[in-house]
Amino acid sequence: MSKIVTIERFIFDYQPDYARGEFTNLLYDIALAAKVIAHKTNRAGLTDILGRAGATNIQGEQQQKLDVFADDIIFRICDHTGRLCAMASEERDEFMPIPEQYKKGSYVLVYDPLDGSSNIDVNVSIGTIFGVYRCVDWDLRGRIEDVLQPGRKLVAAGYVLFGSSTMLVYTTGQGVNGFTLDPELGEFLLSHENMRLPDPPAYYSVNHAYYERWSPGVKRYLHWLQGSEEREGKPLSSRYIGSLVADFHRNLLRGGVFCYPAENNKPEGKIRLLYEAGPLAFLAEQAGGYASNGRSPILDIEPTDLHQRTPLFVGNRSLVYQVEKFLQDEDEADS
Ligand code: AHG
Ligand code: MN
Ligand code: MN
Repeated sequence: MSKIVTIERFIFDYQPDYARGEFTNLLYDIALAAKVIAHKTNRAGLTDILGRAGATNIQGEQQQKLDVFADDIIFRICDHTGRLCAMASEERDEFMPIPEQYKKGSYVLVYDPLDGSSNIDVNVSIGTIFGVYRCVDWDLRGRIEDVLQPGRKLVAAGYVLFGSSTMLVYTTGQGVNGFTLDPELGEFLLSHENMRLPDPPAYYSVNHAYYERWSPGVKRYLHWLQGSEEREGKPLSSRYIGSLVADFHRNLLRGGVFCYPAENNKPEGKIRLLYEAGPLAFLAEQAGGYASNGRSPILDIEPTDLHQRTPLFVGNRSLVYQVEKFLQDEDEADS
């Protein structure tokens, strides 16, 4: 019979050499936040109905939007535990040093609290993405330098997928492992050990509606994905959910590439470097894949701005290398 492994047991057994309690407990905190958000997400269609049935809300408060709720939960679970020096969230304009009244820790948490927000109200999968860095200077309170670190410096990254089940997938640089939430037990149990991008890949994911806004190299890449130029392996099929976490997760399980290219009027594309592209790039590399902005590795980009965006191609190496080749051809033709 196979073993039942809780996330707690797994984190403890596979903690990296440098991990003291602080790092290990930070991962538990994130798992706890994931459970709270999952609970709320599962009731997303009901909160209005139940709210109304409860008649008057004494404070006259409006239902919080789910992405603000998720942002607040992650912040409040992590701000006072003494494990972090700073946080940065896609939902907040500024980075957040840990308040003076709390003990300061050695790590930095960056997160997209609710990814795929356009899918919340239509009952389609959404997620949370996170990345963990070490503080640049452990003696100082959190500074912007702690947050603006390239993906290469991540010590952990992961996501929570709120789909037909809730899953937490993470890496600490020793491969990628996935856990499924047992709703009755309230525990994440190891369900996907040592996840690797399968080869040959099955899917490509892109929003075709933006085709006219792409450069010639990206258009050529799309045609290549569709089979117009010779490519080894079976033909790809197309899937696009519009929640990066869900698209990435499917491609991680089946093999494929997610693309959000630059557009004529949006040269940086849409995906945020710190909260989305960086953590997923680290996961992809740990699963045998690769992430690029089309010209260089996502993990090497030095962020200069908290909310910086980047074009993103992430998935199987063979698929991502090809876009770099086509964009190099495009650059050479231009020069
Ligand atoms: P968020 O909900 O955190 O703002 O992110 C939405 C992102 C990403 O999840 C998704 O891949 C992409 O937006 C979809 O954008 P388009 O609707 O432009 O395709
Ligand atoms: Mn997002
Ligand atoms: Mn978001």
